[in-house]
Amino acid sequence: MQKLVIQGGIPLRGEVRISGAKNAALPMMCASLLTSDVLQLSNMPDLHDIATMRKLLEQMGVKASVQGDEMALHAAHVDKLEAPYDMVKTMRAAVLVLGPLVARFGEARVSMPGGCAIGSRPVDIHIKGLQAMGAQIFIEHGYIHAQAKRLKGARILFDIVSVTSTENLMMAAALAEGVTVLENAAREPEVVDLAHCLIAMGAKIEGAGSHTIVITGVDRLHGAAHRIMPDRIESGTFLVAAAATGGSIVLRDTRANILDSVLEKLTEAGAGIRSDSESIHLDMTGRPRSVNVRTAPYPAFPTDMQAQFMALNVIADSSAMVVETIFENRFMHVQELRRLGARIDVEGNTALVHGVDHLEGATVMATDLRASACLVIAGLVAQGETVIDRIYHLDRGYEHIEIKLSQLGANIFRIK
Ligand code: UD1
Repeated sequence: MQKLVIQGGIPLRGEVRISGAKNAALPMMCASLLTSDVLQLSNMPDLHDIATMRKLLEQMGVKASVQGDEMALHAAHVDKLEAPYDMVKTMRAAVLVLGPLVARFGEARVSMPGGCAIGSRPVDIHIKGLQAMGAQIFIEHGYIHAQAKRLKGARILFDIVSVTSTENLMMAAALAEGVTVLENAAREPEVVDLAHCLIAMGAKIEGAGSHTIVITGVDRLHGAAHRIMPDRIESGTFLVAAAATGGSIVLRDTRANILDSVLEKLTEAGAGIRSDSESIHLDMTGRPRSVNVRTAPYPAFPTDMQAQFMALNVIADSSAMVVETIFENRFMHVQELRRLGARIDVEGNTALVHGVDHLEGATVMATDLRASACLVIAGLVAQGETVIDRIYHLDRGYEHIEIKLSQLGANIFRIK
């Protein structure tokens, strides 16, 4: 199993390019199932989850080709309408094939995602939405089996704001008969990016980015080319790493308007931030100020940045409260941070973080994607050597993280 070894204590300095967004790329790859023409996606990140999704689509009969950061997906002949357990268990986003398959082929079998490290994460909202659109759903042998002659437009009110449910149903509605209204829809920028891609394919979608999305179904969609938006979580992770180490960095190929709540908190922590249309500059001197954080759906503070801000608060000047409202059990990094000397009390979904003046390197274990990023940040700050085990989680969502951090001056390398 691969590990990362970090010699901490070096402030990050320099420039780094931000990759395309994983959470925009994954649903768009599934959108290729909606047409028999080619969908051409550019700014694709080179990530494990993207490779898993490609494999899943190829197993279904989709032809995929990659050149540089471009991926062409051609779903002219799809002969297997199934997402098997071994794919869904490693990547929950595989459930995003459900909507497109039922909408275009009238049938899909998708494994139920199992228990997941960051909470139970059910798929009931995806299922209820498709049922409202007329699909018949059977749960059999651990699979969701959905059938529909042609989906019909419906008014769907989400009782919880859910990103992938909004995306799944938006894709399904694009080929349904009539109008679908999604109320209390997720407003994440990745939902908007997917809507732009679908519109380029001929879909009729209004209101993406607001609480209400209206989709007027069409009979067929066509091929298109779309450039994937920058990864706001990768952007935020590098910014926090620079702030925590007292560094000064420039992020290229990203934009500030997808990161408002994160930039606000970094400013509160004492960082100086400047941005223009495609870059963000961060300068930090001295010890960070402690900042309270409460996760909530976009545009509020993202749950995918909670662990990284925990790492920042761990070495900040006083105490801060971190409240996780989206996922249960998303504090698994706390125990590992304590191994580095952090002082954190946890009560339910709230962590009280008491800043300490330094951390000490140790061996720690990555438990999920964003928890791993938090440990990398803590390792960059800690005195001496930190070894992070089980870094396959990181490779799911961060493109060449140790190479990018090395470019910024960090002493970090991978061992087998
Ligand atoms: C997406 C992101 C993930 C991010 C999360 C929240 C992708 C591929 N993943 O995950 O990185 O952390 O949004 O911003 O885009 N829920 C239900 N029933 C459902 C679906 C969700 O109860 O059918 C609950 C979840 O358990 C959670 C909440 O809804 O408590 C929000 O989850 P959701 O937005 O669906 O997360 P994902 O789309 O899986």
